[in-house]
Amino acid sequence: MEMDTTTGADNGSLILVKQGAEARVFESVFVGKRSIIKERFSKKYRHPSLDSKLTLKRLNAEARCMTKARRLGVSTPVLYAVDPVLHTLTFEYVEGPSVKDVFLEFGVSGVVQERLDDIATQIGDAIGKLHDGGLVHGDLTTSNMLIRNGTNQLVLIDFGLSFTSTLPEDKAVDLYVLERALISMHSSCGNVMDRMLSAYKKSSKQWSSTFNKLAQVRQRGRKRTMVG
Ligand SMILES: Nc1ncnc2c1ncn2[C@@H]1O[C@H](COP(=O)(O)OP(=O)(O)O)[C@@H](O)[C@H]1O
Ligand SMILES: [Mg+2]
Repeated sequence: MEMDTTTGADNGSLILVKQGAEARVFESVFVGKRSIIKERFSKKYRHPSLDSKLTLKRLNAEARCMTKARRLGVSTPVLYAVDPVLHTLTFEYVEGPSVKDVFLEFGVSGVVQERLDDIATQIGDAIGKLHDGGLVHGDLTTSNMLIRNGTNQLVLIDFGLSFTSTLPEDKAVDLYVLERALISMHSSCGNVMDRMLSAYKKSSKQWSSTFNKLAQVRQRGRKRTMVG
């Protein structure tokens, strides 16, 4: 792509949002619009040119998976630009809280049960669409889900670990990761996982093979906990 992110913001400013192990995320302005820049960087211990190739491969995979999700009818940020030299993706800035924030505020500051139920339903519906399209998100946590202000629409982000697969096992692990996140961080939200799964069941034609695997994955998780 031709678009240039070297100038970053129109006014040159970059605000660091998150420093991760494999990427840095900045807030900026792109053609006058509030935007997010995700920069993948190399792990220094790898061979430099091989490293650059792998980083670029992952960057392109993230862009492709996000585009695929959108095609499958799941709301994602608009991708503004890919810079293969700087290893950056530039996205639309989605205005609104993360699902993590909404869930953590449940019962504290006026987040009502209906809102929670609506979000859980949207999550299950979205994951069902991804999975039936052969896409596994790979990092389903409540931090990687945003709620667009005004519309309350769920927006999935962070396709950095996404991959294509039609295996029930991969889909089950995707759901299991979310289940663990909900149990550990959002225990006060009650049966949000049940509601999510019932929406998933309506959304995914292949729900039954996925649920069978999910039962096995949970079993393995329990055994591991008992041993560890
Ligand atoms: N399009 C976006 N709009 C608003 N905030 C975003 C957007 N993309 C990312 N963020 C914020 O940046 C954080 C990190 O981005 P993410 O893609 O999840 O990177 P990482 O792989 O480091 O977790 C998110 O948890 C969210 O708070
Ligand atoms: Mg993330």
